[in-house]
Amino acid sequence: MAVMGREWFADAVLYEIYPQSFADSDGDGVGDLQGVIARLDHIASLGVNVIWFNPCFASPFVDAGYDVADYLTIAPRYGTNEDMAELVAKAGERGIRVLLDLVAGHTSIEHEWFRRELAADGPDPAGDRYIWCEQLPEQVWQRETPGTPAWVPSPGPRPGFYLKNFYDQQPALNFGWVRRPGDPAWRQPADAPGPLRNRQALKDIIAFWLDRGVAGFRVDMAFSLVKDERVSEGLAATVALWREIREWLDDAYPDAVLIPEGSEPRTGGPAAFDADFFLVIHDEHGSLFDNHFPGVLPFHEAREPFFDAAGKGSTRVFLDGWDAARATDPARLIVMSTADHDYDRLCCGPRTAEQLGAALTFLFTWGNVPCLYYGDEIGMRFLPGLPNVEGSVCDPSYNRAGCRTPMQWDAGPNAGFSTADAARLYLPVDPSPDRPTVAAQEADPSSTLHFVRELIALRRATPALGTRTSTRVINEDYPFAYVRGESHLVVVNPRSEPADLAVAGVVGAPLLSSGVTAHAGGLSVAGFGHGIFNFEP
Ligand code: BGC
Ligand code: MG
Repeated sequence: MAVMGREWFADAVLYEIYPQSFADSDGDGVGDLQGVIARLDHIASLGVNVIWFNPCFASPFVDAGYDVADYLTIAPRYGTNEDMAELVAKAGERGIRVLLDLVAGHTSIEHEWFRRELAADGPDPAGDRYIWCEQLPEQVWQRETPGTPAWVPSPGPRPGFYLKNFYDQQPALNFGWVRRPGDPAWRQPADAPGPLRNRQALKDIIAFWLDRGVAGFRVDMAFSLVKDERVSEGLAATVALWREIREWLDDAYPDAVLIPEGSEPRTGGPAAFDADFFLVIHDEHGSLFDNHFPGVLPFHEAREPFFDAAGKGSTRVFLDGWDAARATDPARLIVMSTADHDYDRLCCGPRTAEQLGAALTFLFTWGNVPCLYYGDEIGMRFLPGLPNVEGSVCDPSYNRAGCRTPMQWDAGPNAGFSTADAARLYLPVDPSPDRPTVAAQEADPSSTLHFVRELIALRRATPALGTRTSTRVINEDYPFAYVRGESHLVVVNPRSEPADLAVAGVVGAPLLSSGVTAHAGGLSVAGFGHGIFNFEP
């Protein structure tokens, strides 16, 4: 159970900022912290109260900053530690907290810890921070999840191989192994000296940034730490590690939150994390939004998404996943995002802006902690076919660049993102002549931007639409309809065909709606229609 100090997260409305792509203040073509500071009024105008930054630490950017070379220094291209302190303070003046991204499981090959071990001719007497073996194990150990880590030949002088977590340039930190009979010496237990040093290092990094006013962390690959641990075994050793960190936080920083990149929501609770992400890569969430459109992303190709014009999807996989994730703790907080830096956007493939209202209504009223991905407040499009930038291409069918393009601010050069020459931009701006921009949508009261502001304002003013009340589904097909806190009805019809809902108890005019009309037997919902109503059971 969340302690009182962290209750604030139950009311969080997150905004994820990909620092490369948000706002470039110095004209080098890459976003930076002063750029974000200059746009804080826009962020505050949305009604969000937490910013989550993808990693913004010193890095060679082989994996866009998820390869950290120094956890305690802001990457020069983004600014300085003082800029981060200024950002945290100025966000705080607007009632906005800041979460950073903790890449707990691996570093860059350029981290000084790795350089030191690479330069040695054998194990560090104080305990290795990385996982080395002299000869390739006969049975190459594989994780249960895809993207399997593997051994990389050491470029020397240190002989042998090191274990990587993601790309070769992301060596796995040594948090020990689940011990199995006949283990070789390099499969160290989780309480060996190297793993203990790394645990302490995690606490030191966390404390360093919390001391600078940060409110907590999203934890990258949080369940990857102790190796060869199986989800079916409950991830006991990794859970124990995070629990130890939580206990330390409870004493030292009781307000600070840790949110794991949710690879397995049911393990987040026992590890004393404060919430879990529902990620598109998992069927439970992907079944609603992820798509089968050519040129977008490879997940769940066989499944028709529910939030789609064709209207062939089902909510069942999602509903079962949601119930399972909360089976042991019905109050469990689950973060669901409009999109993120690894997947597509709501607006991808043939989807049009008029389709977004139903999806956004759902994401801000279902009872999850919502996370708005930068640019989704104006319905920015996923752009297929972009070049491989900083490891965006994981495999030929999976290019993350399309959701990482520059924020579209106005009608100026580079959509107001940067004064740099277009060829120098981190990624190209959406070239479409009718690309959405903040400035154009400010001037249009019927825009996605205005709708998102109204939706977030309604949610924040209406506790029944938040995380602390019940959710009762009254129709799981089109139109999807549910009652929140027994006092509000939400109906969304993501398909292009109209749909009818037989329901009694709708009270008065809609609080926010489009394309919904009341009649004696219930509600008629136009294609892509959505509405939020007062309700009496
Ligand atoms: C992050 C990715 C990153 C990977 C390796 C993921 O979970 O979200 O962007 O490439 O971890 O650090
Ligand atoms: Mg810049």
